[in-house]
Amino acid sequence: MTANQSTAQPRTRTATPRRFLMCSPRHFDVTYSINPWMHPTKPVDGGLALRQWEGLRDLYKELGHTVLDIEPIPGLPDMVFAANGATVVDGKVFGARFRHVERTAEGPAYLEWFRSQGFDELYWPEHINEGEGDYLVVGRRLLAGTGFRTDPRSHFEAQEFFGLPVTSLRLVNPSYYHLDTALSVLSDDEVAYYPQAFSEGSQAVLREMFPDAILATDEDAAVFGLNMLSDGRHVLLPKAATALASKLSERGFEPIGVDLTELLKAGGSVKCCTLELRG
Ligand code: ARG
Repeated sequence: MTANQSTAQPRTRTATPRRFLMCSPRHFDVTYSINPWMHPTKPVDGGLALRQWEGLRDLYKELGHTVLDIEPIPGLPDMVFAANGATVVDGKVFGARFRHVERTAEGPAYLEWFRSQGFDELYWPEHINEGEGDYLVVGRRLLAGTGFRTDPRSHFEAQEFFGLPVTSLRLVNPSYYHLDTALSVLSDDEVAYYPQAFSEGSQAVLREMFPDAILATDEDAAVFGLNMLSDGRHVLLPKAATALASKLSERGFEPIGVDLTELLKAGGSVKCCTLELRG
């Protein structure tokens, strides 16, 4: 047994209070298809979507986090996925510029919310990027997805804007079209991810950066298990991702299963509904 194994106690986990921006799914529906999860002919239960979303919001509050909200706009059914609205680090707001015309109006709407709340470092980007869908913050660096939505040129733009190192990762499986559907940040130096969602080169980069990462199974990924949110101790994740939940427990985290099945019909879950306001 190596020294490392003999001391392999789970770390003590401490939650830090967060500020989140969320958008009610009052106008949520699946009326178009821009990812393989969306089937406009399948009915959506709007009431259930709202109750499930309220469950997530209430849970954040019970855990001591602050939840702010942005008014949903009729005709923008995907606006509930607040994670895509911007990327915020050190109080600096890097706006989102959407790939698909169905969602383009969301970018300025989210940026306007930040203006109205007194954020003064606002940036309207030159290149397409879908906010925290493709930008994830790990400690003092960013991981950035590309392949389906965010233009890789945006990665350098974000690096210059934030003054933080940005590592590009290529997504190759259309079911995992945003980085936050395939990788999740657990602490300042730990992640979980689904290797098969990434190109060979990007898998090698992830192994290099995070040799001890939790690797998700096909089953975890298929129920959107990686779309989870950690506050350092509690990890809110889709209820069906049971293997992932056990791995989190083994590492000392406290997994909390959440039901967001109606929102999954649009290809989103816990993380997609949550935009973290840092700084
Ligand atoms: N229907 C939305 C889209 O395809 C879902 C966005 C999910 N958001 C996320 N952060 N992954 O754009």
